[in-house]
Amino acid sequence: MSASKPPAVIRPAWAKINLYLEVTGRRPNGYHELDSLIVFAGLGDRLVLEAADTLELSVTGRHAKGVPSDSSNLVMAAAEALRQASGTRQGARVRLEKRIPVAAGVGGGSADAAATLEGLRQLWKLKISDRDLRELSLGLGADVPVCLFGLPALVQGIGEVIERAPPLPPVWLDLVNPGVSLSTPAVFKARSGDFTQARPWPGGAETAAQLADLLRGWRNDLQPPAAGLAPVVETVLAKLGALPGALFSRMSGSGATCFALFSSAKEAKSAAASLSAEQPDWWVAAAPLLHGKLSDEWRRDTRPAAG
Ligand code: C5P
Repeated sequence: MSASKPPAVIRPAWAKINLYLEVTGRRPNGYHELDSLIVFAGLGDRLVLEAADTLELSVTGRHAKGVPSDSSNLVMAAAEALRQASGTRQGARVRLEKRIPVAAGVGGGSADAAATLEGLRQLWKLKISDRDLRELSLGLGADVPVCLFGLPALVQGIGEVIERAPPLPPVWLDLVNPGVSLSTPAVFKARSGDFTQARPWPGGAETAAQLADLLRGWRNDLQPPAAGLAPVVETVLAKLGALPGALFSRMSGSGATCFALFSSAKEAKSAAASLSAEQPDWWVAAAPLLHGKLSDEWRRDTRPAAG
C-alpha cells in the first residue's frame, strides 16, 4: 500500500423499517404515492470502501447468495451516478457484506446505495452538497433518499418528501423473514381497492406500548397483497404477535420481512431466540430502533475489524 492511499471508509447500511405504509395514490408513470413512518434498526449490511483505479465490487456475507456484483447492483449504480455527477475519474474497491435478507422489504439495496454515496463522497473528497446527493439518490430508487436521511422520518410522495419524525420512545424490534423474497413491483401491482387518505401522524408516544397503540390506527397497505402472494406472511405475523412481550406486529415495506415491537432489549432478544429455535430456517434478529445517526451501533459497526 502506498503511503498516500487514504484509509478505507467503513459504512453501515441499516435495515429500513416501515412502521406504517399507506398507499395514497398512483402517478401516471405507475409509481405510487405513499405516506409512511420509516425508522432504522441497528442492524444491516456493511460496506468497506477503498481507493482504487477502477470501480470494483465484491459481495460477501450470509445473504450474499444471488446478489450481483456487476452494474445491476445498486452499489455500482450509485458509484457510477456519483462519478457522473461529480466528474471524478477516481475508482474504488467496494466490499459489501450482506447481513440482512435481500428483496425483503427492509431496504437492503437502497441502504447499500445510500451508504455508497456517502462513503464515496468521503473517500473521494468530493464537494457535492447534501442536497445534490439527495437529488441524485432518488434516481437510484424511491427508498434511497430516506436511507441517506438515516433518521426516523415521515415520508410522502414516492419517497422524496422527507421530514424528521417527531421523537419516538426507546423501542426494540424483532425482525423475521421466512426466506421468501417478494418483488416490490409485483406487490404494488397486486394491491387493489381504494387509496388511503393521508392523515397527520400525531407523535407524542412516550413508551413502546403507546407507540404500538398509535400504530394500530395506521396500516401497511401492502400487507394484504404481499400475504396474497406469499401466505407465509400471515404465519410470521401470527407467530410474532404471540411472542411474550410483543406489543405489535406488522409487515415492513413490500415484505416479506415482518417486525414486532418490544419495550426492552431483554424481551426482544429472548423472544427472537425462542422463535429462532422453533423456526430454524427463518431469519430472526433483534435490534434497537435507532434515534440518531451517531448511535453506539454506528460506532461499533464502523470500527475496522481486527486483523
Ligand atoms: O424505486 P424502486 O426501484 O425501489 O421501485 C421498485 C418498483 O416498485 C417500481 O418500479 C414500482 O413498480 C414500485 N414502486 C411504486 N411506488 C413507489 C415505490 C416503488 O409503485 N413509491
